[in-house]
Amino acid sequence: DEVTEIRTSLLKWYDINKRDLPWRRISEGEANTDDEIDRKAYAVWVSEIMLQQTRVQTVIDYFNKWMEKWPTVHHLAQASIEEVNEMWAGLGYYRRARFLLEGAKMVVEEGGKFPRSVNDLRRVKGIGEYTAGAIASIAFKEAVPVVDGNVIRVIARLKTISANPKDKTTIKNTWRLAGQLVDSHRPGDFNQAVMELGATLCTPSTPDCSSCPVSRQCGALLKTKNDPSALVTDYPTKVAK
Ligand code: ADE
Repeated sequence: DEVTEIRTSLLKWYDINKRDLPWRRISEGEANTDDEIDRKAYAVWVSEIMLQQTRVQTVIDYFNKWMEKWPTVHHLAQASIEEVNEMWAGLGYYRRARFLLEGAKMVVEEGGKFPRSVNDLRRVKGIGEYTAGAIASIAFKEAVPVVDGNVIRVIARLKTISANPKDKTTIKNTWRLAGQLVDSHRPGDFNQAVMELGATLCTPSTPDCSSCPVSRQCGALLKTKNDPSALVTDYPTKVAK
């Protein structure tokens, strides 16, 4: 069916086209022990927090330096706020760095293991719905969705949702739809594929539909074939920043 086609096409595209990013080298490795799973969770956590508000190209260097200094959550928990802020210099929104330190202390105080489900992750300082979904799906293979601005745009186009992408109801609706779409065998790869599609091909103003792996399943693209005045960029509704 349509959902299966979307999953298969997106994962196949991701396998070939995914960017080689330092946190993926950690999160995609084999993990057979608790310790290895925690190393993945930590790398996903640090990278996803850095990626909120900061471009991938900028994050790469910061991530590598951070992991060199604090390779595990145990190392980070021993750091001072001054060291953490110094490492964060230039990234902005310093609250994110403080949450990482406070979250690391919490995890270590509770035994040094990251909570293993999306619901329990939410209790860690600074881990919200997005970050919990990313860690759970990428590091633990829990079949939960992840929704950011890219995912909202991709889903709005696939499903021809012309709503304000900043509205609470649109966001909530997208979490629900993304939850129905996520691949249960490879949830982390699936979530990253949707984000990556939004970042590279299904961009806000110049989508490259001729290269898109899910163009055949895309409601917005179909509309443009039936109505010459329609545009893929009509979805979601454009809003002033
Ligand atoms: N943007 C934020 N996190 C991402 C990820 N894990 N993969 C692709 N794009 C992202």
